[in-house]
Amino acid sequence: GALIILAIISAYLFGSISSAVLICRLFGLPDPRTSGSNNPGATNVYRLGGKIPAALTLWFDVLKGMIPVWGSYFLGIEPFYLGIIAVAACLGHIFPLYFHFRGGKAVATALGAMFPVAWEMALLLIATWLVVFRISRVSSLAALVTVSLAPFYAFWIKPQYTVPVIMISVLIMWRHQSNIVRLRSGQEQRTRRND
Ligand code: G3P
Repeated sequence: GALIILAIISAYLFGSISSAVLICRLFGLPDPRTSGSNNPGATNVYRLGGKIPAALTLWFDVLKGMIPVWGSYFLGIEPFYLGIIAVAACLGHIFPLYFHFRGGKAVATALGAMFPVAWEMALLLIATWLVVFRISRVSSLAALVTVSLAPFYAFWIKPQYTVPVIMISVLIMWRHQSNIVRLRSGQEQRTRRND
C-alpha cells in the first residue's frame, strides 16, 4: 500500500523535471515553451538547437519514465501498479509541479516507462516511430501512429499492461490536439532545424 503510493508520487515528481526547459537554458537556446511549437520536448529542442540538445532532452525524458518503473519493479511492485507508475511519470511530464504545470506531450517518457517491463514492446514502438518518421519526416505523425498501435502491441506482447497503455495513449493523443488540427489541414510542417 504505502510503498505503491510512494512510488506513484516519486514517479510524478521525477516526471515533473522539464528536461527540455533545463537543457535549453544550459545551451543558451530560446525557451521551448514559447518558441517553435511551444512544446517542451525533444522535437522542439531539435528545431531550436539541433541534434545534441535534442538527444540530451530525449535521453533525460526517457529516463524519467525508465527510472521510477525500473525502481518499482525491483521493489517487487506488481505489474498493474507498474503501469500506474508509468502513467504517473507521464502525468509529471505533462503537468510538471516545478514548471507551472506547463509540460509536454510525454512521448519520450512513455517510451522510457515501457522499457523495464516490456522491452520487446519498447523496441517495436521505436521501430514504428522510425518507419513513420522516415516516410513522413513529421515527428507528431510518427508519435500519433505509434501510440495508436501501442494498445494492440501491448495486448499481443504484455496483455497485463493493455489498460495502462491505453491510458497513456489517450493522454498523448489528447496532448497532440494542435498537431492533429494542423495535420488535418495540411499545416503541420516537416520537423527540421529552425535556427
Ligand atoms: O513528441 C512530441 C512530438 O510528437 C510533437 O512535437 O513540437 O512538433 O509539437 P511538436
